[in-house]
Amino acid sequence: MSTTPSPWATIRCDRTPAWAELHQHFEGEGRQFDLRQAFAEDAQRATHFSQHAPHLLADLSKNLMSRQTEALLLRLAEQCGVLAHRDAMFAGQPVNTTEQRPVMHFLLRQPAGTGAGQPWEKELGEVHQTLDAMLAYAEQVRADPSITHVVNIGIGGSDLGPRMATRTLEAFKVPGKRFLFVSNVDGHELTSVLQGLDARKTLFLIASKTFTTAETMTNARSARRWFEAQLGEEAAALMPQRFAALTTNIQGAAEFGISTTFGFWDWVGGRYSLMSAIGLPLAISIGARHFREMLAGAHAMDQHFLHQPPAQNLPLRLGLLDVWYRNFHRFNSRHVAPYHSLMFRWGAYLQQLEMESNGKRVDREGQTLPYDTSPIIWGEPGTIGQHAYFQMLHQGTEAVPVEFVVIKEARHTLEGHHAPLLANALAQAQALMMGRSDPGGQRHFPGNRPSTFLLLERLEPASLGALIALQEHRVFVSGSVWGINSFDQWGVELGKVLAKDLEARLASGDLQGLDGSTAALLRALRA
Ligand code: F6P
Repeated sequence: MSTTPSPWATIRCDRTPAWAELHQHFEGEGRQFDLRQAFAEDAQRATHFSQHAPHLLADLSKNLMSRQTEALLLRLAEQCGVLAHRDAMFAGQPVNTTEQRPVMHFLLRQPAGTGAGQPWEKELGEVHQTLDAMLAYAEQVRADPSITHVVNIGIGGSDLGPRMATRTLEAFKVPGKRFLFVSNVDGHELTSVLQGLDARKTLFLIASKTFTTAETMTNARSARRWFEAQLGEEAAALMPQRFAALTTNIQGAAEFGISTTFGFWDWVGGRYSLMSAIGLPLAISIGARHFREMLAGAHAMDQHFLHQPPAQNLPLRLGLLDVWYRNFHRFNSRHVAPYHSLMFRWGAYLQQLEMESNGKRVDREGQTLPYDTSPIIWGEPGTIGQHAYFQMLHQGTEAVPVEFVVIKEARHTLEGHHAPLLANALAQAQALMMGRSDPGGQRHFPGNRPSTFLLLERLEPASLGALIALQEHRVFVSGSVWGINSFDQWGVELGKVLAKDLEARLASGDLQGLDGSTAALLRALRA
């Protein structure tokens, strides 16, 4: 019988009947499941576990699950109230429970004029006002030959998304401008980025949701000093044209001395903010039309997540597969392998998205969870990883699910590159699954190692937007099953507080109350 549980009460997934059934199923067929046998027994397996979603084709058939596994996972989603939770998010309810905020990054790509009667009608109007202003500014910068370098200063969601997307969509980049990113408080990064730049021709974008993040503020102040040192008396007059802030903290930006500001809202989480004003470096790089295409691609995936029936709902299927692997197979990590060299920040971007969202050990009520949550996400582009850690993926003692992203059409015109790239992606997935028999020998590949293929026709703004929204929603699904709040990040607080204290101690030499190891290291650093 179908129930519609309240999205607020945490339904402990491990207490549902479906969880118990999944356990039984795992102990029965799940643990011994063999992909090669599954393909031999089910001629329709590839078809059943493949599906189209906006801008991509997903092949889930090389995963360690049967039709029965998937049916039980879908039952789990129902009993955990995942779809009611999804609907609550899309209805603008405060699903970020610890901070009592709605979570509405989907509004950033919701078409204008579609808010009538919706609880977020007012917010949608503000989104489009800001979007129009930001894209008009982006076009102005694109057309301005006096700006040759754009330097984005930000960290976490204010860096990883824009950096990943700007690099990924480099084929669409405006000619004559370079896009540089500074994130680390380590001054080597800023120093190396600023080397040889002309302050008159450089636009700084200070990206920070809060406009208080220590690393970003330190880098922003150093950038301003560098700007003033180069321009002397001219600096004050040029500053409004060469510094812009992307933030929810308009006052903080004004106090810093920045008058050109593009705002966003506290209902956009940092790691979900690429499609807000935080995307300005990308918008300058690819232009307003392409930026809107990216939004449209993401919106199409939002609609897919909202309206596709569960059995054909790709974010739901992927998120449930993540739960199956983490809590039943007990896999620790997922390897993400984009077979496109310009997607070299894909792994880093997904690390924040998933591990900051779902790396939690308590449920929404603060109760300690008895099961594992976020896996470790890691990965580099193919074929590079093949010559490094794929050895472990094929012959190591642990299975690691791999998620390939493969692009059918290349944009470059070099002969003899793309076919080998595609063949390598196919070959890795095939080798992981099929293995090779050499019993007892060094050349034995056990096989039966799972992977997913996400296949895009082309890497372009719309398909990237869809791929990003797919990842956002699959993280929502697993977080929802686990009963956690995927939208806060209290785990980053403690280190920030301790770093402040230790910075003062590095100056003063005060060791009082410190643990033995930290005290010894501090002494060594001061010696
Ligand atoms: O420290 C974690 C974090 O709060 C992330 O969630 C966020 O993306 C990042 O810091 C940067 O924050 P801000 O955009 O406010 O500078």
